[in-house]
Amino acid sequence: MKIIEVNLNKCTKCKLCLSACPANLFSFQNDCINFQDPNHWCIKCGHCLAICPAQAVEYDLSPSYREYSKNIPHQLLNLLNQRSIRNYSEEQVSPEKIEFILEAMRYSASGHNLQGCKYIVIKDRKVQLALSDFTIKAMKKFLVLIKLRYFIKLFIPSILFELLNDPSTSVGIKSMISDYEKGKDVIFFYAPLVILIYYPEMGEMSLIDPIIAATNGIHAAHLLGLGSCWMGFVMQAIAKSKKIKKILGIPKNYRICAVFTLGYPQLNYSRIPPRKKIKVNYI
Ligand SMILES: Cc1cc2nc3c(=O)[nH]c(=O)nc-3n(C[C@H](O)[C@H](O)[C@H](O)COP(=O)(O)O)c2cc1C
Ligand code: SF4
Ligand code: SF4
Repeated sequence: MKIIEVNLNKCTKCKLCLSACPANLFSFQNDCINFQDPNHWCIKCGHCLAICPAQAVEYDLSPSYREYSKNIPHQLLNLLNQRSIRNYSEEQVSPEKIEFILEAMRYSASGHNLQGCKYIVIKDRKVQLALSDFTIKAMKKFLVLIKLRYFIKLFIPSILFELLNDPSTSVGIKSMISDYEKGKDVIFFYAPLVILIYYPEMGEMSLIDPIIAATNGIHAAHLLGLGSCWMGFVMQAIAKSKKIKKILGIPKNYRICAVFTLGYPQLNYSRIPPRKKIKVNYI
């Protein structure tokens, strides 16, 4: 899928696409909405198409993509309609709703029914800032890794090398760091709450139950009218950090396995964006 342009005959200049695009590829210039992606930053999330009330964002549905199946039962549309939310209103989430979301996670499946996930609900802005600062420092270290990519090429998976070698990776990270240093919350997007799940360190096995629990929690949040976004950058940065575990009171032999935001979405998406076709073998 490729976003081509804004159809100025249809565009009502509501500017919703400016807020919705995670890569900031829309701008308002000379009284017009403009789309430009010279560095190929578009992650093909389709948020611009989904938010535009005038269907003014023109896109090319390449052969590898398709629209959602119109035959899907309406009970399942909620799942397809769930977007990652990066714009939150100031409305606080009630303790009752937080409890419901925790309850949805408590009832998630776990290997051998171990039910070993532990949760932290982070409302304190100072703690959120400590996590953000740590994440930004990790991003700066990642930029050093990008510089050294040819030296480490033989020792890393080719997909990681591709990521390091893609010019848009370093430009994107530099732009996030610069926005953060100007005071913009590019990490948690001013979400009123952050939920963190930790689990005993058991190698890769540590991740499965927390990811299932978080997915339940995120879906429950959506059903309750809340929005959420997985915090991959934060997770990567803090997963094994002794300093962050100390701040959060997490014991040494535990790993931070899932982090996501919670809050009331500021934007309402009116369409379901296209997705890549999937490869399925029926045997
Ligand atoms: C494991 C994981 C990590 C993610 N990390 C981030 C993140 O750090 N920051 C962010 O803005 N979005 C993050 N996302 C959101 C994805 O970019 C998002 O799912 C994607 O853009 C598709 O959009 P949708 O979820 O709205 O359909 C993450 C998603 C997943 C599943
Ligand atoms: S598909 Fe996503 S990243 Fe690309 S222009 Fe639209 S909103 Fe921005
Ligand atoms: S969301 Fe659509 S109508 Fe609104 S400014 Fe963007 S392109 Fe124009």
